[in-house]
Parts: sequence; C-alpha cells; structure tokens
Amino acid sequence: MSNKQNLVSKKNTETGSDDSHALKVENLSKIYDTSAGRVVALDNVSFTIQKGEFVSIVGPSGSGKSTVLNMIGALDRPTRGKISVDGIDMFSMNDSEIATLRNERIGFIFQSFNLINRTTVLKNVKLPGLIAGMSHDIANFRAMKILEALGIDDKKDQKPVNLSGGQQQRVAIARSLINNPSIILADEPTGNLDTKTGDDVFAMLKNLSHKFKRTIIMVTHNPELAEKSDRSILLRDGRIEKDVYH
Ligand SMILES: Nc1ncnc2c1ncn2[C@@H]1O[C@H](COP(=O)(O)OP(=O)(O)O)[C@@H](O)[C@H]1O
Ligand SMILES: [Mg+2]
Repeated sequence: MSNKQNLVSKKNTETGSDDSHALKVENLSKIYDTSAGRVVALDNVSFTIQKGEFVSIVGPSGSGKSTVLNMIGALDRPTRGKISVDGIDMFSMNDSEIATLRNERIGFIFQSFNLINRTTVLKNVKLPGLIAGMSHDIANFRAMKILEALGIDDKKDQKPVNLSGGQQQRVAIARSLINNPSIILADEPTGNLDTKTGDDVFAMLKNLSHKFKRTIIMVTHNPELAEKSDRSILLRDGRIEKDVYH
C-alpha cells in the first residue's frame, strides 16, 4: 500500500492499536549546522500525546520549543528520529505527501497570526479548505459555521489588518479548524496579546480541546496558562526536563 492510500485508509477507519495516540515523537534530534558552528536544537526527545489532550510546551528562550513544533508540523525535517500523526510515520513520506498530511491533519496558530492581509477574513479561513480540495460552497459553509462559533462571523468581509489582535487570533484559530485537523499547533498564541485578550484566546483553545476533543500543543512563556493546560512538557537545552500532568 502506498503512503497516500495508507493516509486515506487511516483517516477513514482509524483502526489499529495506536488508536488513542494523536502524536508520537520518538528520539527526535535536530542539529543545525551554521557558519557559527553546530547547534543541537533538539536532543533525543520522546513523548506521546493522546487524542484530545491539551499540552503546553514551556522552557527558556532557545530551549527548542519552536523547533519541536516545526518538526511536528512538518515545516522542517528532523536530523534523527520519528514522528507519527494518527499512526502515520510522517518523514517516511515524500515532500508532497507531507504537504498533504500537513494541510489536512495539522492546524497552525502563530504568535503573529500570519493572516493574509490583502484578502478578507472569510477567504483566509477558507483557503486551507480550498487547498485540500473542498468546493467553494462547502468551504464557505464550514468557514461561516466556525466563524459563528468563535463569535466573529460579523467580521467576515473585513481585512484582518483592520481587526484587533484578539480578533485576528480568532480568525487564525478559525482557519486552523477548517480541515478538521487531528492536531492544532500553537506557537505562543497569546504572545502578542494583552493579558485579558490572551486569557480569552487561551480559554477558546481549552474549550476546543475539552469540548470538541481537539489535540492541542501550545508553546507558551506564560506559566499560569501552562498550569491551566492538561500537561506541561518543559524543555531545556533541547531535552525534556519535566513532563507533568496538572
Ligand atoms: N534555522 C536555524 N538555524 C540555526 N539555528 C537555529 C535555527 N532555528 C533554531 N535554531 C537554534 O536552535 C535552538 C532552539 O531554537 P528554538 O526552537 O527557536 O527555541 P525556542 O522556541 O525555545 O526559543 C536555539 O539555539 C536556536 O538559536
Ligand atoms: Mg520559539
């Protein structure tokens, strides 16, 4: 069976013993060779995340938080190790298969929102759906449903740049949901927001996780928010120093 068929059959049947694992990271290392020398950004990191868990990744600046998130999101390949999403070994696939998996199964939320400012909120939310092959009508329908659920459907025709930071992050959350992803990755999603707005965005993510059984992995610098997630993985110098459930 090709990886592509494998991807489809897994998505449809969800069988196998790995059923409850959304994500498995095994012996992951990432080494950057730079002109300034060798940087070990991740050093033999392993963990498993169950479906519906809301996990925070914490640690000092430079500890490897973004690197691990970027590997899980297949934005970059690891130097060594393995990552499986829904039991699918990501890096056994070629780049185009990885791109498909990323678009269909992984939602991204960034600190700086990363929305497309020259187009509308609605189009931003629809775009990953269209890329995944959704028709315009279905993408419209889904996007509007999600925008309504997040309380920003009245902003659908605005350009993101005209919205507040909290509203822009809601749009980014809406966009991350359009393809019904297995995993949502959020890199410091509250980092550019004031405390109150950050708390609202956090509450929204927690609600998505607990009420709608989304698997969410969130990098944060905020220890109070980390405490309120289900589990915190503390990185230091590219290694897991602590992995605690709250
Ligand atoms: N593209 C890159 N090239 C070289 N070094 C990098 C690159 N990305 C990250 N690093 C280095 O890897 C380490 C971990 O970085 P990062 O994952 O961004 O940390 P964090 O997100 O925890 O602040 C740091 O030492 C950083 O300088
Ligand atoms: Mg970072």
